[in-house]
Amino acid sequence: MSKSKNLYIKTFGCQMNVYDSERMATSLGADGYNEVSSPEEADMILLNTCHIREKAAEKIYSDLGRFKSLKAKNPDLKIGVTGCVAQAEGEEIIKRQPLVDIVVGPQAYHRLPAMAKSIENGKKVVDTDFPEEDKFEHLPAAPKTKRAPSAFLTVQEGCDKFCAFCVVPFTRGAEVSRPVLQIINEARDLVERGVRDITLLGQNVNAYHGAMKSGDANLPQLIKELSKIEELKRIRFTTSHPNDMTQELIDAHGEMEKLMPYLHLPVQSGSDKILKGMNRKHTAKSYLEVIENLRVARPDIALSGDFIVGFPGETDEDFEQTLELVREVKYAQAYSFKYSTRPGTPAAENKNQVPEEIKSERLSRLQALLSQHQKEFMGTMVGKVLPVLLERPGRLDGQLVGRSEYLHGVHASIDQAQIGDIVNLRILGADTNSLRAEFVSK
Ligand code: 5AD
Ligand code: SF4
Repeated sequence: MSKSKNLYIKTFGCQMNVYDSERMATSLGADGYNEVSSPEEADMILLNTCHIREKAAEKIYSDLGRFKSLKAKNPDLKIGVTGCVAQAEGEEIIKRQPLVDIVVGPQAYHRLPAMAKSIENGKKVVDTDFPEEDKFEHLPAAPKTKRAPSAFLTVQEGCDKFCAFCVVPFTRGAEVSRPVLQIINEARDLVERGVRDITLLGQNVNAYHGAMKSGDANLPQLIKELSKIEELKRIRFTTSHPNDMTQELIDAHGEMEKLMPYLHLPVQSGSDKILKGMNRKHTAKSYLEVIENLRVARPDIALSGDFIVGFPGETDEDFEQTLELVREVKYAQAYSFKYSTRPGTPAAENKNQVPEEIKSERLSRLQALLSQHQKEFMGTMVGKVLPVLLERPGRLDGQLVGRSEYLHGVHASIDQAQIGDIVNLRILGADTNSLRAEFVSK
């Protein structure tokens, strides 16, 4: 092991990037890097980036610009760009910002320790390969230290769906599922370190088909295997495509106790014409049928979604159909975005781009409706007694903050239980983003 150095990682974008950042920290940790919480202390800075919308991608360059003064103070400071912008832009990043030493895509970050060595003498490295080898097999196991009770675990990566707006099939590559045993071992490891709630991650997680002794396992089979880990109490998965919501997976929501009654199921638009233009391969009706079946299987299921407004060709009427779908589903929570033109995607070539002011106006109308529903849903929690997984200390003395089955943050004054316990709390009130509660029982 070489002498200890400090590593600072800043993560942008989705939950998979959060997971990847953890794996990168572990990987470099085995090579003598300690993670620190500010760039000023660092010997190496990594920006783990997101390419999904233009704003997210451009933000990287303003951040990099800010590191100029740090590099002037410490010429040995190494700067790396990882993640989806690295994959999409490759060596262009170094051309645009020469202070960058490493550019590495999401499929090659297991090679970071070797790269860190090869840049020590001033060389630069760009690695945007989609290597043959399984990166997960080449990443060191995390040290057996205690960790927070909720964790992400990537089980599937990449996407073969090619929605017309999306860069993911290009930045993350083709769909690949990890073998069941590899996932079980990682989950066991997390549970030994104190994890009780695992969110299985994949860009198309419900298309999971990982190798198992007896042939390929699908997502419900994987969840069933994971349910056997006794100390693992809660299982979730994200993100799903409506077309891969099989009846078996829908039924699993009613049958598997550890599977939480919460599902993130993006629809993007309520207009069939726009869905067709987006190459979503489903209609508003087929999406609503999936929701209906889910509610039959698990009547208390809460739904979350993603929406894009102002996709090329979207008229007022198309947008009204999105609002209509939202009124019908009544999401507990949702993410909504203005369409952002991404280089290399089919929709970027479309001549019918929607003016920015119209996109903004539609987004605020949609968000007003979504937040009204979110508020109403949170309101229905008041007075109920809910099982809450305690996750961390709160801001006030004696206060703990936990998470409900529906992913609401819940805070209460508790001295009868500790972090990692699931306790019953009575909900006393709802604030904008969290719930207030009192302790009832363990
Ligand atoms: N513009 C705006 N939003 C996008 N998303 C993906 N690509 C784009 C884009 N080009 C949104 C989708 C997706 C979520 C992760 O990001 O809603 O589900
Ligand atoms: Fe962003 Fe998609 Fe990459 Fe996640 S996978 S970081 S959302 S571009």
